[in-house]
Amino acid sequence: MLHQHRLQLKRWVPKFLSNHKTLFTVLWIVGFISVFVCQRSIVDGPLIFRRAPVRPLPRLRPVAFNIADFGAVGDGATDNTVAFERAVSAVVKFRSKGGAQLNVPAGYWLTAPFNLTSHMTLFLAQDAVILGIDDEKYWPLMPPLPSYGYGREHPGPRYGSLIHGQKLKDVIITGHNGTIDGQGQTWWKKHRQKLLNHTRGPLIQIMWSSDIMITNITLRNSPFWTLHPYDCKNVTIQNITILAPLFDAPNTDGIDPDSCEDMVIEDCYISVGDDGIAIKSGWDQYGISYGRPSTNILIRNLVVRSMASAGVSIGSEMSGGVSNITIENIIVWDSRRAVRIKTSPGRGGYIRKIAYRNLTFNNVRVGILIKTNYDEHPDEGYNPKNVPTIEDITFTSIHGHGVRVPVRIHGSKEILIKNVTFRNLSVGITYKKKHIFQCAFVQGRVIGAIFPAPCENLDMFDEQERLVRHSTSLHRTDIGYDL
Ligand SMILES: *[C@@H]1O[C@H](CO)[C@@H](O)[C@H](O)[C@H]1NC(C)=O
Ligand SMILES: *[C@@H]1O[C@H](CO)[C@@H](O)[C@H](O)[C@H]1NC(C)=O
Ligand SMILES: *[C@@H]1O[C@H](CO)[C@@H](O)[C@H](O)[C@H]1NC(C)=O
Ligand SMILES: *[C@@H]1O[C@H](CO)[C@@H](O)[C@H](O)[C@H]1NC(C)=O
Ligand SMILES: *[C@@H]1O[C@H](CO)[C@@H](O)[C@H](O)[C@H]1NC(C)=O
Ligand SMILES: *[C@@H]1O[C@H](CO)[C@@H](O)[C@H](O)[C@H]1NC(C)=O
Ligand SMILES: *[C@@H]1O[C@H](CO)[C@@H](O)[C@H](O)[C@H]1NC(C)=O
Ligand SMILES: *[C@@H]1O[C@H](CO)[C@@H](O)[C@H](O)[C@H]1NC(C)=O
Ligand SMILES: *[C@@H]1O[C@H](CO)[C@@H](O)[C@H](O)[C@H]1NC(C)=O
Ligand SMILES: *[C@@H]1O[C@H](CO)[C@@H](O)[C@H](O)[C@H]1NC(C)=O
Repeated sequence: MLHQHRLQLKRWVPKFLSNHKTLFTVLWIVGFISVFVCQRSIVDGPLIFRRAPVRPLPRLRPVAFNIADFGAVGDGATDNTVAFERAVSAVVKFRSKGGAQLNVPAGYWLTAPFNLTSHMTLFLAQDAVILGIDDEKYWPLMPPLPSYGYGREHPGPRYGSLIHGQKLKDVIITGHNGTIDGQGQTWWKKHRQKLLNHTRGPLIQIMWSSDIMITNITLRNSPFWTLHPYDCKNVTIQNITILAPLFDAPNTDGIDPDSCEDMVIEDCYISVGDDGIAIKSGWDQYGISYGRPSTNILIRNLVVRSMASAGVSIGSEMSGGVSNITIENIIVWDSRRAVRIKTSPGRGGYIRKIAYRNLTFNNVRVGILIKTNYDEHPDEGYNPKNVPTIEDITFTSIHGHGVRVPVRIHGSKEILIKNVTFRNLSVGITYKKKHIFQCAFVQGRVIGAIFPAPCENLDMFDEQERLVRHSTSLHRTDIGYDL
């Protein structure tokens, strides 16, 4: 920038030499620009002369590195794995000094899986894309998750995640909406063709860690689940976009909090090939013996789309228990199901104290779904007598239009769904059918005006919470199977 101005000045000077006023003005402008550029280079470092960032990157740690300074090339072809590993090693040195930031500038930065470290901020500039190498030979295998006892898709070990971390503290992944792209297309195809012998890896998986923040970035095309916090505490996920194709991108769940405690997910846009969010806590006998619940989780202000599964799910792996979950201000549009709880005999554990508030369903096939026969097990070692408990579920201010079956609560003789409350529900339906508020083996109540008319399994109260009608048919079944 400065050089250009000097060159221009050289050409202009003879022309205006006689005109002192013009010369003075030009000198004044050049001087002003020089001071301005100098000030910016003090703030941003001398890099401004090498490449002009679209937006200056904030300094979020005492020290900031640039991935390019570790030999990485953002051409979408160079394998930058070693550069990422060296950069993380450099961050490690600042562990006890407030940590360090790793900036990834605009470009396509191809890499195999790498590990993060504690007290680290990974910052993705605008137009920065971290690309996962889509050849499984580059993906290390890891032991199964202890609460799954199994790779999930295949027995034995599983692929790790593109961005991985274990036993960390204070990790931030953020940016100016830069992207982490798993290039899942190759994985989905191989999975369909049964060419993989091990379970696909997530895009980001952080295990046994605390104080994790993931904000202001885009995650796309994960080979498997996109963002998987496992047995973590204090996780904040805010203002991120998660994208995968709605069809033929198997198991690309958006965010799967798994045995996590104290977590917030807010202000996100999620459109993926499986559940937008799925809260989990381990699978059958493995999850029961690991025994770590998902609890104290707040999910709010999301726009979600899922044609293959549901906007926000709980389960089906929930054997460590799921409790105290608030799900509010959610829009689910053009989707198969809006919110779903799924479990089955063999899971054990519990799902309780779940509050859904202010949900909007636009054009979904099933609005609210509770399913207790999701019969998918790690191996023959599960005990069908381990039945899960489902209780204390409230639905408040649920609205929508273009919904085929607004409610389907499908308990069973073994798994009675207890203490479900509906208040202020009004969901516009696509066509008038007999049973569109479907129930089986459920106990609970509706309060105030409810549209469509609720099933007879539920007690009816008026707006002032005075009993209008006691349910006479708790176990009545009117589930339609025509979806
Ligand atoms: C990441 O860390 C885990 C746990 O320490 C280890 O098993 C794995 O091999 C590491 N992955 C890479 C790519 O270094
Ligand atoms: C969300 O992220 C975008 C892109 O990084 C940014 O422009 C916007 O200000 C962020 N919003 C909030 C509320 O943080
Ligand atoms: C972030 O980038 C994604 C993908 O390009 C885009 O869909 C989204 O709108 C962007 N978010 C913001 C807040 O600009
Ligand atoms: C999967 O296993 C088969 C048989 O052991 C082997 O031929 C094949 O190369 C393996 N594929 C991968 C992707 O490892
Ligand atoms: C949670 O983590 C954030 C950083 O992500 C940290 O600022 C905050 O102090 C932590 N909260 C608790 C209660 O530890
Ligand atoms: C997200 O980006 C916006 C706009 O750049 C910024 O104001 C906000 O602080 C960022 N959020 C976090 C948690 O970094
Ligand atoms: C329930 O979770 C919320 C966070 O969503 C937390 O503030 C609250 O303290 C939790 N309640 C209990 C009883 O732990
Ligand atoms: C309900 O959620 C919508 C977004 O889905 C939000 O705009 C609105 O403010 C929320 N209403 C309340 C009362 O929180
Ligand atoms: C039913 O659930 C509500 C909401 O979770 C709770 O406040 C109430 O105590 C529960 N009632 C019984 C009888 O357990
Ligand atoms: C019902 O929900 C709507 C939308 O969230 C809200 O505006 C309204 O106040 C609620 N009505 C009652 C009686 O709670």
